[in-house]
Amino acid sequence: MTTNEYIQCHKDRFLDELFELLRLASVSADPKYASEVTKTAEAVAESLRKAGADQVEICPTNGFPIVFGQKIIDPAKPTVLVYGHYDVQPPDPIDLWTTPAFEPQIRDGKIFARGACDDKGQMYMHVKAFETMVQTNSLPCNIKFMIEGEEEVGSANLGSFLESNKDKLKADVVLVSDTGMIANDVPSITIGLRGLSYVEVEVTGPNRDLHSGIYGGAVANPINVLCKMIADMKDENEHITIPGFYDDVLELTTEERDEMAKAPFSIDDYKKHLDLAEVQGEKNFSTMERVSIRPTLDANGIWGGYTGEGAKTVIASKAYAKISMRLVPNQHPDKITQLFKDYFEKHAPKSVKVEVRPHHGGFPVVTPTDSVEYQAAARAMETCFGKKPIPVRTGGSIPIIALFENVLGLKTVLMGFGLDSDAIHSPNEHYGLFNYFKGIETIPYFYQYYAELKAR
Ligand code: BES
Ligand code: MN
Ligand code: MN
Repeated sequence: MTTNEYIQCHKDRFLDELFELLRLASVSADPKYASEVTKTAEAVAESLRKAGADQVEICPTNGFPIVFGQKIIDPAKPTVLVYGHYDVQPPDPIDLWTTPAFEPQIRDGKIFARGACDDKGQMYMHVKAFETMVQTNSLPCNIKFMIEGEEEVGSANLGSFLESNKDKLKADVVLVSDTGMIANDVPSITIGLRGLSYVEVEVTGPNRDLHSGIYGGAVANPINVLCKMIADMKDENEHITIPGFYDDVLELTTEERDEMAKAPFSIDDYKKHLDLAEVQGEKNFSTMERVSIRPTLDANGIWGGYTGEGAKTVIASKAYAKISMRLVPNQHPDKITQLFKDYFEKHAPKSVKVEVRPHHGGFPVVTPTDSVEYQAAARAMETCFGKKPIPVRTGGSIPIIALFENVLGLKTVLMGFGLDSDAIHSPNEHYGLFNYFKGIETIPYFYQYYAELKAR
């Protein structure tokens, strides 16, 4: 039986099993879901055992466990380390889901559920591709799985896991499906991810909430101050004003930018999808450039004062914001965090006190296209999609990828099958049935071509 025949035969079960996984609410950010996260780790471990791994462990960390599994067919053969994550984003705002986030449902050929694409659906493709290769006697490489439960909260415990398990994780390459492609008929491979610096700020005005009539006009309102401070961090060209912010940014050559601009993209479709009359962003850069090769600064949440029903006349004592800065080569997350902190503290008016609390960070990544692993992935996609994939840099972040190189000395292939329209992190996240099965079909070809190219 070929791998494709095996997949056809077991399609329904492959889907049922993914649904079982999607029913577990493995939200890593919120402690109220902790037992579900742990259960999901167990389910992933069990799925690896059933798929044919001969050594599976649930490795405890200071946070949620890392699931490790492997099948070593021949130490002389190359080893592929598959990375993915079983944790998901919170389902909020839950009222906006057409069907509940943890009750997967198929509509219009898509699986709707939190984690359907990011990353349970994409991670599980690898488990099923592995099963397929084992069952059809076509696994040409050794395989290791490392599936973590804290990606969505910054992978705080994975770095030290890499440090202390270098032997266990010994491999030739890392294979990840946790990104997207341009369209189902325009396959692409991600060759760049942005880095991240994420901070929370607290602005304190008066020592208690005040009557906005009695005091209004005479004391600084922390919410107003915070809004102005955030607004002031960009100038009229949408250029970030923090001194030194762009110092280390690697500018692309005109040739590189021209090459990038060849990837198909319609600004009209883009606006239509998002229901926007106009896009905006840094002057002199295209939309695609703004979301891939340029750094950003964005408020991700802002709160303070009274936000309940009706009106309450109050000047809040405190205002808060969560702010993300997406980074590009060669920006350093710690340096950017420090620049932000210095700027924010220096620019706060004397009428308020401010505090900046750094959260997680991560380095940007750019991978080569002339490597054996890129070529293997490109050939696999070409075989299954009938078209050569386009290499693209993307705006999202997967902080651990840089550590694969720095700690384990391994390059990563980001062969993702999601689409930007899959609404990851949003209500009604979904993943195409086409994409799920196409991924399962494509992955075995990666192993075949990778083994062939390595043997040369
Ligand atoms: N899978 C995403 C990252 C992603 C999605 C990259 C689509 C490229 C295309 C990942 O789960 C994610 O959401 N990462 C976070 C960072 C993390 C530290 C919370 C992100 O990018 O916001
Ligand atoms: Mn992800
Ligand atoms: Mn995510």
